[in-house]
Amino acid sequence: MLHENKCKWCSIVVAAALGIIATQLPIADSNKLLPQMMDYKEWTVLEITLENTEQKNLDILQLENQDIRPMGSPSTPYVSRIAVSPKKLKEVKKELNDHRLSFKILTTDLSRELLPTVAASREELAHGSSTYDRYMTFKEMENHIDALSTHLPNKVKHKVKGKTLEGHDIHLVTVSDYTIDEDKSVIFVEGGIHAREWISPAAAMNLIDHLVESPALTKHIEWHIMPVVNPDGYVYSKSWDRLWRKNRSGTWFFFCTGVDLNRNFGFHWAGDGASTNPCKQNYAGESQFSEKESKAVRDAVLEVKDRIEAYVTFHSYGQYIMYPWGHTVKTQHENHESLDKVGQAMAKAILTAEGKRYKVGPAGKVLYVASGASDDWVANVTGAPYIYTIELRDDGSYGFILPETKIQAGVNDAWVAMQVIAKEVMDQSNLRTTIPEDDPADLPAEPKKRRRRGCKGKIHNGKKRKRCRRTKNKDYVINH
Ligand code: ARG
Ligand code: ZN
Repeated sequence: MLHENKCKWCSIVVAAALGIIATQLPIADSNKLLPQMMDYKEWTVLEITLENTEQKNLDILQLENQDIRPMGSPSTPYVSRIAVSPKKLKEVKKELNDHRLSFKILTTDLSRELLPTVAASREELAHGSSTYDRYMTFKEMENHIDALSTHLPNKVKHKVKGKTLEGHDIHLVTVSDYTIDEDKSVIFVEGGIHAREWISPAAAMNLIDHLVESPALTKHIEWHIMPVVNPDGYVYSKSWDRLWRKNRSGTWFFFCTGVDLNRNFGFHWAGDGASTNPCKQNYAGESQFSEKESKAVRDAVLEVKDRIEAYVTFHSYGQYIMYPWGHTVKTQHENHESLDKVGQAMAKAILTAEGKRYKVGPAGKVLYVASGASDDWVANVTGAPYIYTIELRDDGSYGFILPETKIQAGVNDAWVAMQVIAKEVMDQSNLRTTIPEDDPADLPAEPKKRRRRGCKGKIHNGKKRKRCRRTKNKDYVINH
């Protein structure tokens, strides 16, 4: 009797444990055992209306397992989408009802939406060339980078800043007129940190293609571009699971894979809007900069830390131009005004050129609070005046699954925005947060950052341009 009872308890405990594991198990990882493409047949996409920030952080919206995939928020504030397997649909609907969340059904068969919306031609690329008629493979992008740096050695240089767990290279492409020997301002651009946001690496590659033909923008600016920060994720999203977001790192919880690289940076790491649960889509990782990909970005940024005037990271979707801070809504960035002004100028230029409306504002306010992201870390460590996260197209009709026919227009948005920033950097590159370097007597009573306009030494557009001294005493590992 006693024995029977014990066993009953045993089985309850075991069943409960298995239950927990089962709810956390991402299908993606059963692929490790038996490779097969993730099939979203009869998965329902729900669009949930949220009334407050707490609801935005609800567990059910963050969980990424074999039955639930978070699908982001469209440009309407307080709306979130999740894809749910047919097996879990009833349960999820009940949970939403229990939380008094209203929702509508967008589709009852996600696999239909995922069918590639193929552009006219699917021709194989000539080795080394690029296309924006379809999403390039990682290999095609690598070949293109290689071809550019080989054929245009005075304009394009290429370095590998790291290797991923799966052995992919993390590329850094620099574009500049290298026949002009000067200490140039740097605009740093990062793409493809989130695997499923395919328009992002496309925008970064397209930027490179434009820059090699834009002498005016490369004369006094050195562009540092990391087009695919998360190649393992990109390749995985292309071959196995279209909706994969994170990298492909193993975690302490065997069944859940991947770190959200845009929660892995060392500023307010694992704070609000990031998770310590490896089964969440916004898992921050085991420690700050635990990942090879975020380390590669960190190292590439630190190498040119004192010259960075602007930093832009491309994401999708929602059509937002966002600036720091993103980890909090409580403090305003000290450059808020100029960040907003240039952000609005970018949005206006996109609207004029491409007819799409982008919302502008601090990341934490216009989208959601997220800590450990690259934008805030760069803002903190470099003090660069222009830092933006651009959520490219669309407004949510297709979301992450932006059809190939819309790539060209989508990457144009990015190009238009980057030209606005470049112009601003050229006009204002002496607008910079600094702390006096050499003379302690220069230090303000409170060691506060201040903006200098009077700097010296740089020739630009024929005029002598003043160059700023750089931020000092800003250790990138310091969390505030
Ligand atoms: N969609 C981006 C992400 O989730 C937004 C990041 C904006 N930046 C921020 N620091 N919150 O990573
Ligand atoms: Zn993203």
